[in-house]
Amino acid sequence: MVLSRRSFLAGASSLLATPYISKQCLGREAGAALPIPPLVDLKSDAETLEAVAGQSSILGGAKTPTLGFSQPYLGPTLRVSRGNVARPRVVNRLSEPVTSHWHGLHVPAIVDGGPKLEILPGNTWNPELPIDQPACTAWYHSHAHNRTAEQVYKGLAGMIIVDDLNAPDPGLPKTYGIDDLPLVIQDRAFGPDGSLAYSSHHHSTMHGFRADMILVNGAIRPSAPVPAGLVRLRLLNGSNARIYHLRFADGRAYHQVASDGGLLPRPVALTLLRLAPGERAEIVVDFAKGGAVSLLSGPDRNSMMGMGRMGGMMGGAGSPPQAEGGSNGEFEVMRFVADAGKTAAIKTLPESLAGAPKPAQGKPVRRRHISLDMGMGGGMGRRGGMMGGGPMRGGGMMGGLAINGHSFDIDRVDLELKRGETELWEITTSMMAHPFHVHAAAFQVVSQNGKPVDYATTGLKDVVLVDGRAEILLRIDHPADKAVPFLYHCHILEHEDGGMMGQFTVS
Ligand code: C2O
Ligand code: CU
Ligand code: CU
Repeated sequence: MVLSRRSFLAGASSLLATPYISKQCLGREAGAALPIPPLVDLKSDAETLEAVAGQSSILGGAKTPTLGFSQPYLGPTLRVSRGNVARPRVVNRLSEPVTSHWHGLHVPAIVDGGPKLEILPGNTWNPELPIDQPACTAWYHSHAHNRTAEQVYKGLAGMIIVDDLNAPDPGLPKTYGIDDLPLVIQDRAFGPDGSLAYSSHHHSTMHGFRADMILVNGAIRPSAPVPAGLVRLRLLNGSNARIYHLRFADGRAYHQVASDGGLLPRPVALTLLRLAPGERAEIVVDFAKGGAVSLLSGPDRNSMMGMGRMGGMMGGAGSPPQAEGGSNGEFEVMRFVADAGKTAAIKTLPESLAGAPKPAQGKPVRRRHISLDMGMGGGMGRRGGMMGGGPMRGGGMMGGLAINGHSFDIDRVDLELKRGETELWEITTSMMAHPFHVHAAAFQVVSQNGKPVDYATTGLKDVVLVDGRAEILLRIDHPADKAVPFLYHCHILEHEDGGMMGQFTVS
């Protein structure tokens, strides 16, 4: 193996050189009220989304330079409705190109917001988004060529709620900001001057960048007042690389009611939910017994070849973020305080969820193998990463973030699909788990490491965490030509920018 322990440690020291704020400074900033992003209804008339630079008071005192859509950090929650055409006006007020990709919306490639659709500084983009898909929680984020990780880290992201007003009402809480809360979960690091700290060193490129502070909707470990009853939480992992394992401090059970592509057939009782970068999950939590409860997550051990422990030392992959990590490395994400004076609108959870999408993908007409490669020169991947003869990026040991041996090339089409044809994709990984994402559709996960996956527990997905081998059934119903193809990639954003991404056409 070319990558030696010594070179890893060299990476470690340069990361440690990044000045992080010490834990003692943090207590004061945590516990602010949960910010609720404004809700912008994208009816037919154009609403403007402006990519802007701003100053955010995330740390209380020191101002943090950030990016956002129409606000200093993150963007409004966009609401779109099935059967409508949404016409957002996206304006770039920054001095670098951005895009706005509608992650989870099933729209033609020409309006999908990928790296070919850069909005240059000062320019405006007017896409028309025909909305025709089941109700779900989606999101939008910049997807600019080679800049996605950094731009999303700085704040160019927001949530999308897709409504389907003609579908039967599933009977779930739905008052935005009251009993239906958007929660964008991210990890961030800060320098002593309050600025966001980001490292594009090869260590963070290979493991993905993780940081020691947890933000929800842009606030550190915030607190949300909730009615004393059933509350729906729309969880979005908007982090670059961190995987969350979410549970409540008192161990209470809750129900997952939706995943990336929309409702599950019926609520699924859980006490622990894993959420990988790019994934969404809607859960309904019962706060009827009142009081306060913390939402916790555990350490993220997803790193190359069990380097997690060392990663911990270096503030990298496995490190439990911020203060108050329990002995098992758990840490607080946020807190909920039930207000006994406010009764909840929905008293009981329905047994099945009306309007839930069906898998209905049909029989696959072809099978493809997608190998997510991290070449390390050691041939540790199933298909060998660099052993497979793929091109290397950056020379030497840094190479190898690729798919099927090819690092991303914006001028290359990797796959050609036929519109409406169902395909079975076998995705394999090596070195670590990768959240695999496909644009333009939600797919069914058929198996994970040879074991069949129960559709009722996963629903339709557009991101699936693969650690070994997974099979998905996929059908794309929207066109993409070679001028503006669709994308498939790892949603660890450093891996995506680093080359673990491909493009496909649909004819
Ligand atoms: Cu959320 Cu291609 O991305
Ligand atoms: Cu996407
Ligand atoms: Cu990856």
